[in-house]
Amino acid sequence: MKFKTTSYHFDLLKDNDRVSAFFEAINDYEGNNNLAYDLGCGIGVLSYFLKDHFGEVTSLEIDKKAYCCAKENLKSFDNVEVVNEDVLKYNFTKKADLIVCEMLDTALIDEEEIPVLNYAKQFLKEDGKIIPQGIINTAELVNLERHYVHWDEEVNYEVYSKPIVYSEFNFLNEINPEFGAYLTLKTDKSGIINGLKITSYTKLNDKLIVGPSPMLNPPLLIPLDEKSVNVNDLINVKLKYIMGNGIESIRTEYY
Ligand SMILES: C[S@@+](CC[C@H](N)C(=O)[O-])C[C@H]1O[C@@H](n2cnc3c(N)ncnc32)[C@H](O)[C@@H]1O
Repeated sequence: MKFKTTSYHFDLLKDNDRVSAFFEAINDYEGNNNLAYDLGCGIGVLSYFLKDHFGEVTSLEIDKKAYCCAKENLKSFDNVEVVNEDVLKYNFTKKADLIVCEMLDTALIDEEEIPVLNYAKQFLKEDGKIIPQGIINTAELVNLERHYVHWDEEVNYEVYSKPIVYSEFNFLNEINPEFGAYLTLKTDKSGIINGLKITSYTKLNDKLIVGPSPMLNPPLLIPLDEKSVNVNDLINVKLKYIMGNGIESIRTEYY
């Protein structure tokens, strides 16, 4: 299948690890097969996978250009309806067996995965499922070259601690977008720290967890005040952000 695409969605499509993880999770889905929602369907790649498993697929996309591509890409499939709408304003009339929502980004800060799922979950059947199922976030102490929030894309930094898991979410639960955590990290060398590296692992289903790939949650690098450290120091950091409100919502401080 040759997909009509925008340049952003072409980059998403080229990320084989990302696309195959979703392909595998959709193929592995076990449950009722009446209706699936694909929320933020982009150019319709995941809906294309869903169409073989469900009697009905409803695919919502806010961006007009991506919607037009999805409409064209999926036009031969009578069981797929593509709608150009903000999920948060969409008038759902039926409950689905499965919600697929790939509005992921590192720690779910910059995109709307959590606000969208908190709203759309009321239109999921009681025994319904969500792909991905959840997310696991880890943090490490680092020394950064750049003193602003940025993603780990061809940048240099030095790692000063082992990663710790600081949060884990199951998307079937109601999730408060206002996140706050007190982290304690142990340094494994001496020097200067001035940042945190956040890495997210996406739990597609009970069996499949994937780490970052170029277009799926590249690690996020967040500045901290500069601090001299020795080996085995315990460093306490308070981390706050609002999921869905962008990287400007991130706050860090030592406590
Ligand atoms: C990371 S892309 C993933 C696209 C597609 N699901 C895929 O996996 O190839 C997220 C998509 O969600 C769309 N989106 C973001 N917020 C939305 C909203 N509130 N309602 C509908 N679509 C939204 C974006 O325009 C974008 O196309």
